[in-house]
Amino acid sequence: MTLRALHDAARRTLDPVHFDYLAGGTGEERVLADNERAFDRYLLLPRVLCGSETRDTAVDLPGARRTAPVVVAPTAFHRLMHPDGERAAARAAAAEGVVLVTGTAATTAVDGVVEAAREADPDPAVWFQLYLHPRQEVTEALVRRAETAGCTALVVTVDSPVFGRHTRDLRNGFTDLPPGYAAENMRDLPGAPPGSLIDIPMSPALSWRDFGETVRMTSLPVLVKGVLHPADARLAVEHGAAGVIVSNHGGRQCDAVPAAVDCLPAVVGAVADRVPVLLDGGVRRGSDVAVALALGAAAVGVGRPVVWGLAAGGEAGVRAVLGALRDEYDHTLALCGGRRNTDLTKDMIVRRGETW
Ligand code: FNR
Repeated sequence: MTLRALHDAARRTLDPVHFDYLAGGTGEERVLADNERAFDRYLLLPRVLCGSETRDTAVDLPGARRTAPVVVAPTAFHRLMHPDGERAAARAAAAEGVVLVTGTAATTAVDGVVEAAREADPDPAVWFQLYLHPRQEVTEALVRRAETAGCTALVVTVDSPVFGRHTRDLRNGFTDLPPGYAAENMRDLPGAPPGSLIDIPMSPALSWRDFGETVRMTSLPVLVKGVLHPADARLAVEHGAAGVIVSNHGGRQCDAVPAAVDCLPAVVGAVADRVPVLLDGGVRRGSDVAVALALGAAAVGVGRPVVWGLAAGGEAGVRAVLGALRDEYDHTLALCGGRRNTDLTKDMIVRRGETW
């Protein structure tokens, strides 16, 4: 099935309110639309007679050597989308040999997610996404939870000083999870009565100092997710980040920012000689992966398409999405005369309508 078919199947399958939660953005959803549209403005200029029968799409990322430069971005509440939820996504990502980022807002606790990934691959790469808590002992408890579970890296999301105002959720009155579902990683944390949950925190008062303290509390590599300004990318590296993820949260935070891929070149220019730079937002085709890599990304994250696959077909649906992206990317690499990811270079990018 194509990604478009899986999107349509997800829309048919899901409760419309849950589909809107998955699909939507903030404001007038300008950034949401632009993330995808922006990829149409970048064209690939192939090289010829320099390819190979066999291509190597493997990538070295912090805490992970994986088979393809595609990462499953953290998306919340998978059990709303499919009864097997995060476990199905984790098995699929591990079977496809790609990194899965599970999040603070998962409806399956992180140890269960890693356990499911191990069913498909004894040595999976599961990263844990966290929102820093204003109380450091809560952040630390989450970090220990991820370490104990066997995560190989942490991802700190920094683009959410306050909750995004998701237009469709506000219209639909979708403000709470239905009974029986919870952000399971937030259970039994310091300050919460046994068995109870605390809210996922957002605080505009958090600073790079808090980020630096998080880096110091663990030996795991810590990536920063949600950087758009090159100065912030430099600050991230100065405070110990092992990688930078260029992201506007899939158009779910500020609705007046540039498309993620348009922010990539400046961040690459600022820090890619020191740490890997990843990108997420609007990646829908293998050629989008190739464009991002040619612009200097080490890998791309994919959010909504993975959840379309999950909703439409559980583990098999997620595998279909990841397999299609990898296959299309490999095909594009071949068409561009590449043998490996690093053969895609900036001179092979042309802006639509511009001469070069
Ligand atoms: C997200 N995203 C997200 N990011 C994060 O750091 N923590 C989270 O809990 C979530 N939750 C979440 C839920 C849903 C339903 C979506 C669609 C997205 C953002 C996500 O990691 C990623 O940045 C975007 O999804 C990338 O854009 P695409 O691939 O969806 O276009």
